[in-house]
Amino acid sequence: MSVTIKSANEIELMREAGRLLEIVHKELENAIRPGISTWELDHLGEKTIRSLGCVPNFLNYNGYPASFCISINDEVVHAIPSKHRYLQEGDIVSIDAGLIYKGMHSDAARTHAVGQISPDAQKLINVTRQSFFEGIKKAVDGGHLHDISNAIADYVEPFGYGIVEDLVGHGIGHALHEDPQIPNFRQKRKGIRLMKGMTLAVEPMINIGRPDVEWLDDDWTVVTADGSLSAHYENTILITDGEPEILTLGHV
Ligand code: MF3
Ligand code: CO
Repeated sequence: MSVTIKSANEIELMREAGRLLEIVHKELENAIRPGISTWELDHLGEKTIRSLGCVPNFLNYNGYPASFCISINDEVVHAIPSKHRYLQEGDIVSIDAGLIYKGMHSDAARTHAVGQISPDAQKLINVTRQSFFEGIKKAVDGGHLHDISNAIADYVEPFGYGIVEDLVGHGIGHALHEDPQIPNFRQKRKGIRLMKGMTLAVEPMINIGRPDVEWLDDDWTVVTADGSLSAHYENTILITDGEPEILTLGHV
């Protein structure tokens, strides 16, 4: 395993890759409404990425056929946009997005409500988002990787939710997926030591029910095994001297 430390120049490019990705996420969030197809969202998002002078990094990644993953309700992640799949009032929809700007990648995911949703669904979205912020409190120079994982688990477990174990966060930079892998569930070992200049995508995936997931026949879509709702929240972050810098949030 080799975890890279980014140079000042690489970090500057990743900041911009992050800021541009936020613009894409805002655009898609504003387009969410009952009746829109996930293909239309993908199409709009891809147009936005390209108009910003960037390239979608998910498209063709290991043969992935779209620019975004748009996962509804019990779909955890990696659902392929489709002309035949429409958002409905009461759904929760997870949009996972990434782009390449001047050779550097950014990656971020959000779960949104479609119209009015149940209090249980809203709570899942809120807890999933907050678990990211709890986790990155431990994303500090000199800390250990698994402090992040355990902070997420400490926060989520009391709610009785299932933390997905089959998919994890990752390093990011010149590639979408770099070392290290970043689990969101409890770890016995410490993991690598975190250092200033590392760039990581931290991305808890949380189910209302059991943590177990299954793959659909398209070989991409991950769903909860028990059919319960699932939420996803992800940002690309930079380890610094102090608090981590979130590259994909708060700049637009
Ligand atoms: N954010 C996702 C991840 O880190 C990327 C989607 S995988 C792709 O796994 F194949 F769709 F690109
Ligand atoms: Co990711």
